[in-house]
Amino acid sequence: MKFENFWYVVALSEQLTAKTVLARTVLGEWLAIFRDEQGQPVALRDRCLHRNSRLSAGTVKAGQLQCPYHGWRYDGSGAVVAVPAEGNCPQGAHKALRYATCEQDGYVYVQLASDPAVEAVPFPMPHYQAAGWSTVRIVNRFQNTVTNCAENFIDIPHTASVHPGMFRRAKQQPLAMTVTRQAGRVTATYRNETTNLGWFRWFLNPQGGEIYHVDRFFMPNVTSVEYDMGRSRRCFITSQSIPETEGSTLVYTDVTFNYGIWTHLARPLVRWTSQRLIHQDIAALALQQQAIAKYGQHFAHTPADTIHVFVESIREAIAAGKDPRQLPEKSVDVNFWV
Ligand code: FES
Ligand SMILES: [Fe+2]
Repeated sequence: MKFENFWYVVALSEQLTAKTVLARTVLGEWLAIFRDEQGQPVALRDRCLHRNSRLSAGTVKAGQLQCPYHGWRYDGSGAVVAVPAEGNCPQGAHKALRYATCEQDGYVYVQLASDPAVEAVPFPMPHYQAAGWSTVRIVNRFQNTVTNCAENFIDIPHTASVHPGMFRRAKQQPLAMTVTRQAGRVTATYRNETTNLGWFRWFLNPQGGEIYHVDRFFMPNVTSVEYDMGRSRRCFITSQSIPETEGSTLVYTDVTFNYGIWTHLARPLVRWTSQRLIHQDIAALALQQQAIAKYGQHFAHTPADTIHVFVESIREAIAAGKDPRQLPEKSVDVNFWV
């Protein structure tokens, strides 16, 4: 197994219009993304076969991508179908490197491996466009690795210091969690969660009852945080962390919620709050990356970091060409304080 086997988001479906070409980087590979005549997404290596200009700087006309330099035109299969300097006749069977694409839940995905050793499918986004639910979608770039981003998104101990007041306050309240690693997934189930939810506690959990809170990691790059505070108080924060280069990760975040009659009205507030929280995380992860770039990555773990140890074991297995679903199943009970 390798990271290239999986499907990675490269665009929101709505971003990719009939006239758009997008430049993307996934696992170091440069891509030019556009739609063919049938409206299907196409991903070509972002390099013209002629004199190697970048196709992503070109233009799309009637489902064909035209290079910005001498105007060679490529169709959705990557074939060169017109060479202007030769009377628009194709010259030989030139074909650009083309990657598999698909579209699901309003996202365009690319898979880099041409012969995937494993059967991978795009992650189904929880309750996307389901009745009674609404999704706010946000895209942000982090200067850090996918592993460190994913760990941050399911890390409670940082919330009181990185998001003071807004999300949590340092109260040194005991929390209990059960962390399980199984089949390429990590699941953390929390207990004793009640009121320490920051500014919006009065709205999120007016009765102050126990909160059902589960954090999940799905190999290789998806995290999903689930809060259930009773009927019409449910929320999923699902993030797909896309590896661009070693120090750069593009993160697509869906905040999908069901707040009953407030669901639609709450959208602007949910967007504003989520983006503000994410900006705080971007700053925190930039600091971490600076120190790692200078001194290397050497983590000191405590029991509260069990979730990270499991996530790292899964991503390290893939990096080593192994199948993390073969790792032994493990379940650990941990007490920690927030
Ligand atoms: S470099 Fe693309 S057409 Fe010449
Ligand atoms: Fe955070």
